[in-house]
Amino acid sequence: MNQAPHPSAVRRKLVVVGSGIAGLYAALLAAEGGADVVLLSKASLADSNTSYAQGGISAVLEQPAPGDTVAAHIEDTLSAGAGHCDPEAVRILCREAFKDIAGLVRFGVPFDVNDHGAHALGLEAAHSAPRILHSGGDATGAGISGALIAAVLTAQDGPEARGRGRIRVLANTQATSLIQDSGRVSGVEYLHAGRLEAVTGDAVLLATGGAGRLFAQTTNPAIATADGVALAWRAGAAVADVEFFQFHPTCMVQGAGVGGVAPEPLLISEAVRGEGAVLVDANGYRFMPDYHVDAELAPRDVVSRSIALHLASLGTPNGHVFLDATVIEQAKGPGFLAKRFPTITVRTAQAGVDWTRELVPVAPAAHYWMGGVLTDLDGRTSVPGLLAAGEVACTGVQGANRLASNSLLEGLVFGRRAVEAFLSQGDEAVVPARRSSGAPGDGTPKPALVFGTRGLDKRDPVPPFSRTALQRLLTANAGVLRNGELLQSAADTLGEWAAVVLPELAADALDPKAHEDANLLLAAQLLVQAAQARTSSLGAHYRSDAPQPPAHNDLLHRYTMSRKASLVHD
Ligand code: FAD
Ligand code: SIN
Repeated sequence: MNQAPHPSAVRRKLVVVGSGIAGLYAALLAAEGGADVVLLSKASLADSNTSYAQGGISAVLEQPAPGDTVAAHIEDTLSAGAGHCDPEAVRILCREAFKDIAGLVRFGVPFDVNDHGAHALGLEAAHSAPRILHSGGDATGAGISGALIAAVLTAQDGPEARGRGRIRVLANTQATSLIQDSGRVSGVEYLHAGRLEAVTGDAVLLATGGAGRLFAQTTNPAIATADGVALAWRAGAAVADVEFFQFHPTCMVQGAGVGGVAPEPLLISEAVRGEGAVLVDANGYRFMPDYHVDAELAPRDVVSRSIALHLASLGTPNGHVFLDATVIEQAKGPGFLAKRFPTITVRTAQAGVDWTRELVPVAPAAHYWMGGVLTDLDGRTSVPGLLAAGEVACTGVQGANRLASNSLLEGLVFGRRAVEAFLSQGDEAVVPARRSSGAPGDGTPKPALVFGTRGLDKRDPVPPFSRTALQRLLTANAGVLRNGELLQSAADTLGEWAAVVLPELAADALDPKAHEDANLLLAAQLLVQAAQARTSSLGAHYRSDAPQPPAHNDLLHRYTMSRKASLVHD
């Protein structure tokens, strides 16, 4: 950010919730800008989606790579977003990317370099040029997270530099509700070591990440339980685009695990397809060219949906397909996979697959929530004193389907902008305005669909609430493929559970899991309600009962929900 501390900001205090890329970077910048920072994180500082990021972070640098331009990055982002992105937000994301990449380098992030000493750039699906910076090959998230955490700990322990604020770190501290004074958010209640406590500040920045744990199969670690959306919603903040949940096409299908403990999710990065890997079915047939001209490098929602449709057409809707990375090793020489993708090489081997010689079983898994707490272009939400950045926020950059490697970038660019708003005392509520780019539909050929996945039937007795039951329900009824009947059935079941769990009330339970369960249930209701309201298919929201590309007007329609208007309350 490199801006002189605002004179009136010197002793302002920002409470940052979350230690992924958005929270860590924002905390560092806020302290540099002269604010005192309290940084809360539910588990260890390294427990975040950020730490698991593999492919990298997209950016057109100050000196663009040959053949690449900021305009192309903007175009690719808008196009992957299926016409539902906020074009101004996308322009900001892509134009300002280089500044924040420089910010990461300044904080010590070790990006990989090529033989000429320049940033090595990878290609990922739906990018028209190689523009993905990475670190440690496929350990980008760990590289970013490690460097930012080290910088935060230094800022916490080091002597107070002139003009700088302090960062106080509260790890293993779970925010359970937002404190409000006359409607303004002024702090956070949290659980730490079995006790409920509170911290106050001039504003709160939510950077709590995503919600993959809404679904039975996910790439996300255990922290991703929709806490931020639930906390913000209970405080009266508007949320938007929550019907759009991205499923990553290639999560490794692993065994049941040992002693009933499910194995950690294992994503096989899109960058692997960027290097040439292909998808085949159980018959060895490469099916993606039948579904999209860009085949394996089509936008992520298209690839996931094509896998689901293809499996359904084979009569194995709950089966899996295979990623063939052996072709890369054949084309680029022995040892290439281990060098370019060291983490995946080790993890697949641990799971019993030598991917240099064998196919990797893969299936789509819940990966990224495009929707979230509605913000303007400076992280302001509709509630005064409450800012949001990163995956928890809905800035409009991700549209109906996020372009690969644009998420880490969003956390950076909009995390910084939120801090700038805070430092300039511009953290008052706004009712964010939104525009969509209105591009045409995603172009996926829509085969006549035999909707294979069996949802929970209305005649089935509603099982008692449990996290597992909720995850199964959402996967079956509101996953890659949806329709009105399944969504209605899900809404009914969630309603029955909500009557018991009361997810809208911030509980004073001392069990962290009870808070997470209530948050997941509330988020599930919001997602299903929005999915019901969007009666046409768009991006990652694919309804088998409305598979045609939507009318132009529908593209422009963004469903913003706020507490008062919500059917959840009816
Ligand atoms: P996170 O990194 O998820 O951090 C959220 C933080 O909030 C965590 O510290 C968590 O503990 C904390 N938290 C949550 N709830 C609470 C609470 N109640 N109280 C206190 N703290 C709380 N994106 C890319 O751009 N490129 C990639 O290559 C890429 N690869 C990915 C690979 C995997 C396996 C996964 C899962 C995601 C990947 N993504 C990638 C997506 C990207 O990693 C995330 O969207 C991004 O890291 C989100 O950053 P964040 O700072 O918003 O949240
Ligand atoms: C991946 O490496 O495939 C994940 C990239 C992303 O989610 O942006």
